[in-house]
Amino acid sequence: TRTLTVLGIESSCDDTGAALVRHVPGQPGDVLANVVAGQTDLHAAFGGVVPEIAARAHAEKLDLVVEEALARSGLTLRDLDAIAVTAGPGLIGGVLSGVMLAKGLCAATGLPLVGVNHLAGHALTPRLTDGLTFPYLMLLVSGGHCQFLRVDGPEAFTRLGGTIDDAPGEAFDKTAKLLGLPQPGGPSVEAEAKQGDPKRFAFPRPLLDRPGCDLSFSGLKTALMRARDALVADKGGLTRQDRADLCAGFQAAVADTLAEKARRALALCPDITAFAVAGGVAANATLRSRLTQVAGNIPFIAPPLALCTDNAAMIAWAGIERFRAGHTDDMTLSARPRWPL
Ligand code: KG4
Ligand code: ZN
Repeated sequence: TRTLTVLGIESSCDDTGAALVRHVPGQPGDVLANVVAGQTDLHAAFGGVVPEIAARAHAEKLDLVVEEALARSGLTLRDLDAIAVTAGPGLIGGVLSGVMLAKGLCAATGLPLVGVNHLAGHALTPRLTDGLTFPYLMLLVSGGHCQFLRVDGPEAFTRLGGTIDDAPGEAFDKTAKLLGLPQPGGPSVEAEAKQGDPKRFAFPRPLLDRPGCDLSFSGLKTALMRARDALVADKGGLTRQDRADLCAGFQAAVADTLAEKARRALALCPDITAFAVAGGVAANATLRSRLTQVAGNIPFIAPPLALCTDNAAMIAWAGIERFRAGHTDDMTLSARPRWPL
């Protein structure tokens, strides 16, 4: 029932983040500072995130982003009520660095420590930005995750379905790689698709024939590779138009599949207040418009992109929710590479 100000720390993948969030009861959260240091350039030459490089970069940058977040907000550690940190799931080297920094800061200041599940951070973001009330439906779509969650409380999540292989962001990234487009693949494939004909290539809509909300994207990747190889065998290479049509066909297949599974997930939750998305792929305009359609009369909520992709403000927020529920952690808090909701 009192105002809380919390520092959040995030280092579970390839973004090092620190943020300060203030919460006045009865209102959405107020992001006072949200600092993210990305590592895309460090991993670019390797075609994916290299865990060892990620861990070193986190260890180097963590205290700097915390200082920067405090400086931008004009606050000091004395102004805080708690420190929240991602304790998993993720690449263990980075998660460990974040947890150790948070423990050190808590030991030095006496502030309560709150361990946060990274996925809970994503899933609770629409409460930070829009003050959503429970229950709501969340579609988390990123480079590493794809799942439908029914959210009934700050620590009450029901997984309705998810990918059985690749995440959609991963599929966008692999598509870009196959077609020689720059990484991250999502934005470049989306840009190419604007000039393309989504109907020229009939890509599969995996698992639509099966009941439930599970998804699969690896077959789509194979179909795309075959279509590309057939064009190359036929004409010796791809034209600009071929590339655009392949991107448009791929994007339409992803959007169709997610839209149909969203329709089923919505049907399983007739009592929800809203349908929300989070994760980097939620930036995709084609996907957004399809999901808005499927939501119909139910409000469709897409947080601003900076809070959809990996960030520490969502961790601070999830920490506030856990802290208000009376949960804190002690110095035995461990870093967990796997931690299902
Ligand atoms: O949430 P995020 O920043 O990081 C994690 O994966 O946790 O998501 C990054 C993913 C990448 O795979 C990227 O290609 C994808 O989100 N992405 C997009 C778009 N922008 C980013 N995918 C489709 N369309 C976009 N406009
Ligand atoms: Zn994430």
